[in-house]
Amino acid sequence: MRMYDVIKKKRDGGALSAEEIRAFVEGYTKGEIPDYQAAALCMAIYFRGMSDEETTELTLAVRDSGERLDLSEIGGLRVDKHSTGGVGDKTSLVVAPIVASLGLTVAKMSGRGLGHTGGTVDKLEAIPGFCTNLSVAEFSHTVNKTGIAIVGQSASLAPADKLLYALRDVTATVDSMPLIASSIMGKKLAADDDCIVLDVKTGSGSFMKSVEESRALAKLMVEIGKRAGKRISALITDMDRPLGYAVGNALEVMEAIETLRGGGPADLLELSLALSAQILYLAERGSLAECRAMAERALSSGEALRTFEKMVQAQGGDVAYVQDPTRFALSPCLREVKAAASGYITRVNTEQYGLASLLLGAGRNTKEDEIDLGAGYVLCKKTGDAVKKGETLALMYAASEERLDSAERVLLQATEIGDELPRPRPLIFETV
Ligand code: URA
Repeated sequence: MRMYDVIKKKRDGGALSAEEIRAFVEGYTKGEIPDYQAAALCMAIYFRGMSDEETTELTLAVRDSGERLDLSEIGGLRVDKHSTGGVGDKTSLVVAPIVASLGLTVAKMSGRGLGHTGGTVDKLEAIPGFCTNLSVAEFSHTVNKTGIAIVGQSASLAPADKLLYALRDVTATVDSMPLIASSIMGKKLAADDDCIVLDVKTGSGSFMKSVEESRALAKLMVEIGKRAGKRISALITDMDRPLGYAVGNALEVMEAIETLRGGGPADLLELSLALSAQILYLAERGSLAECRAMAERALSSGEALRTFEKMVQAQGGDVAYVQDPTRFALSPCLREVKAAASGYITRVNTEQYGLASLLLGAGRNTKEDEIDLGAGYVLCKKTGDAVKKGETLALMYAASEERLDSAERVLLQATEIGDELPRPRPLIFETV
């Protein structure tokens, strides 16, 4: 089979066979298909799309491109939560300890930030000593001991996804429904969890900008998961504004700890409780309302916070930082970003807000870039808030004034201030 013919078939709107899809994924993973042909096929898929059958085949080929994790040594019902990516989304740091404190097993493989979106693994590494790089044996041992561990994706798990994601990131082919669905579900199916809750973001900070597109993506991924025998559901949630107030790794961990302590921003708390309740519900712990009440109690009793501390300790992190988050070292240069006009914040471009944190040093332009874990910003105003000219919109932290200058420019340009109070958007649009 010639790769040229596969690209041409998709370019002309044809449907690829299972054999053609497998040959592409296997050939690319082995290095036999060059980047330029893989990029051409991704672009053809971007424009022509894929049928559900093709997307399922692509997902299974990604799943089978490396090792399938065998977590059978880990006891209990294994649960996972995966977000399609957003700005300020630190819910995993709250949800994982809530559900683990209620007896579910969280053996979670998370990603690093890429592009304008953040990643749980980078955030956790802001806790001094925290190790996200455990072998499968160490991972199993830790989960069996504490009921929870969060690590980075093992190199051998779905390697086709790593290669394809890096390629898509630099060829403007990330925001394609079949490519996102196969990337996320390929990894999830390789990781051997029993219950999966997907947080499918929608809005300007999401890869899927409209609710219709996000719904279609959610349905597709849930269908693929069900066919593979998983208990799976998805919440479609707002990413037209950052979640919470903090954006940047150490700052987000601090905000997550505040939420585990019973405080924290209302949107972060609400979404964390809703996702936790969904996971507990899939795990058949009761009705949705009972599961929600259990999650609330896990927070108010301090059990979720204690479970987070246990996880930090088991993975080598310094628990003193959890007990006293003022210890986190933030980047030395500080800037108060001031509003350019008076009125209401009518809209923000959340993708640009993500870019602003990247410019501060909190994210990478390439996978190899070193990140500044103390960089980022805390918003003082969000969409719908009234603001006066000269009032502080955000407090930014970075290693240099130059970084602050460029991030400030981007944040201000991404913030619309007008006379009319905007119509509020729901935090959770629907469950699929
Ligand atoms: N997250 C992933 O893991 N893959 C994508 O393609 C998009 C978000």
